[in-house]
Amino acid sequence: MTDLDLSDRQWLSKFIEIGKEMLYLTQEECKSVGLTIEEIIDITREALIAHGKKEYEMPAKIGIHPLPEAFFHAMPAYVPSKHAAGIKWIECFPKNQERFNLLQTSGLLILNDEYSGWPLAIMDAMWITAMRTPAVTALAAQALHPDAETFGMFGCGVQGRGHVEFITYTLKKLKKIYIYDIREKAMDELIAEVQPRIDVEIVKGKSPEEVAKSCEVLSSATVILKTPLKVVKDEWISKGQTILPCDLNTFWDPLIAKRADKYIVDSIEQHKLYEQIGYFPDGLPEIYCEIGEVIAGLKKGRESKEELIVNSNIGMAVEDVVLGREILNRALTMGIGRKLPL
Ligand SMILES: NC(=O)c1ccc[n+]([C@@H]2O[C@H](COP(=O)([O-])OP(=O)(O)OC[C@H]3O[C@@H](n4cnc5c(N)ncnc54)[C@H](O)[C@@H]3O)[C@@H](O)[C@H]2O)c1
Repeated sequence: MTDLDLSDRQWLSKFIEIGKEMLYLTQEECKSVGLTIEEIIDITREALIAHGKKEYEMPAKIGIHPLPEAFFHAMPAYVPSKHAAGIKWIECFPKNQERFNLLQTSGLLILNDEYSGWPLAIMDAMWITAMRTPAVTALAAQALHPDAETFGMFGCGVQGRGHVEFITYTLKKLKKIYIYDIREKAMDELIAEVQPRIDVEIVKGKSPEEVAKSCEVLSSATVILKTPLKVVKDEWISKGQTILPCDLNTFWDPLIAKRADKYIVDSIEQHKLYEQIGYFPDGLPEIYCEIGEVIAGLKKGRESKEELIVNSNIGMAVEDVVLGREILNRALTMGIGRKLPL
């Protein structure tokens, strides 16, 4: 009837009548499929390798901006090796906490049948985002600084908590984790939640300067703003450190990325788009390569202990659709979620 390989579609059809119904998964249902942190890291690694090998389709994020400081992003992607096709519609409203007592980020993921195009599922994307983002940082840290004994995290919210836990799965020699947040309560909550689950000691940094100067590997998940806050000063950063921001260059003096020996990004196209819309007012630093290429073994990561490496990962839809597809597979086999008529 066709020259398409429909085996994956036939597998899906055992659980769902494609074209007539789709599965809806809440955040709790996504969590309840039982993925472990190791599995989330492995799945994210596969997404990054597919990206590094250019085996994907993923146009750069487009968005709308109802408030000056807020954005909605449409993040479509297709990863053929994983039969993962879909789009994440994610929001970030930085003032949500003070205005409405709501988290700044929410979102949904739609997955579609790659052969007919019909929707297969709609699911929460907040948990997926909260999981795949620290998985990317953990994988990047492993690729760029595997023997690090110290890690520093700026921002102790949803992402910060995930980062501190996930990093212990890939940096096996870690001895100490420093954290810093402008909200003391956020640091206390991070320690209360994460310390019982990890063996590495977590300590509250007294200042951004102390954290920046004490850690070989640093990450930040604070806020994304067009004008950099420049909280971390250039003179606090030394040769040999690895910096992994997931909030663009908001938190760091832009001079740091400019003088880095290697400036690596997750997506060159997306970083250029952010530059065009004003997020790198001092200009985007010269890009060495994409992190997927390093993780796929196609480009060299750290080549000497002296290198200062900055790797900015703003988040890619390939990570979302691949993790979302794994959640869908498990939910279908486990009978989790609600089928909704189309
Ligand atoms: N790269 C990606 O893939 C990706 C994915 C999700 C979120 N993000 C970004 O990560 C950031 C954090 O997201 P989240 O969901 O964890 O938010 P969150 O609101 O849960 O946490 C942010 C934390 O940063 C702290 N903070 C803000 N300004 C600070 C400063 N100047 N110094 C120290 N701490 C500060 C806040 O007090 C808060 O605890 C956002 O900017 C978000 O857009 C990136």
